[in-house]
Amino acid sequence: MKKALTLSGSIRAGSQNRRLQMLMGRRLRAAGVEVSDLDLGDFPMPVFNEDLEPDQVPEAAGALAQKWRDADIIFIATPEYNGGLPPLLVNVITWLSRQKPSPFRNAVFGIGGVSSGKYGTIWALSHLQDSLGKMGGLVAPGLLGIGPADAAFDEKGDPVEPAINRKIETLVTDLVRISRG
Ligand SMILES: Cc1cc2nc3c(=O)[nH]c(=O)nc-3n(C[C@H](O)[C@H](O)[C@H](O)COP(=O)(O)O)c2cc1C
Repeated sequence: MKKALTLSGSIRAGSQNRRLQMLMGRRLRAAGVEVSDLDLGDFPMPVFNEDLEPDQVPEAAGALAQKWRDADIIFIATPEYNGGLPPLLVNVITWLSRQKPSPFRNAVFGIGGVSSGKYGTIWALSHLQDSLGKMGGLVAPGLLGIGPADAAFDEKGDPVEPAINRKIETLVTDLVRISRG
């Protein structure tokens, strides 16, 4: 059985991206994938600084890197902060990029995001797609940008717009087909 991890770049209570993370977890499970929905709050890492290497590398960086290596599919939901990625996600990616062997090489990623604006995180997703690809990951095509957040989901946490539902279906199908497991 293929294994997937889902993550959210926001760990605040009531996060819309956490909602998207859980929705993708449900859809991947429905497609026959074994899914672990992770909380980045369980992987505390200080702000990256090369002076912390090699003696003060957080244990969480090694633990999360191993989970990434063991997964066939990694789905990341991210907010957009000031047209870019939120510091939590940048920090996690930076620490993981220093782990050996690389948890990015040959990893298969799906990305998406929810924002309060109508452009729905497309700038953040574009940065993320670029960065994951440059580190050796394979990012499934398409940008699952959803916004404005307050009109995006119904009370069950499913997307209101049929177009978003179709995009999610396509992303799940692509991830299952291109992943290695
Ligand atoms: C520091 C900061 C910067 C933000 N910048 C953007 C932005 O550039 N584009 C955007 O659409 N929303 C922006 N927002 C609003 C977020 O889209 C909104 O807070 C969203 O709900 C965050 O995701 P979350 O609910 O998963 O925490 C920003 C929010 C914060 C706190």
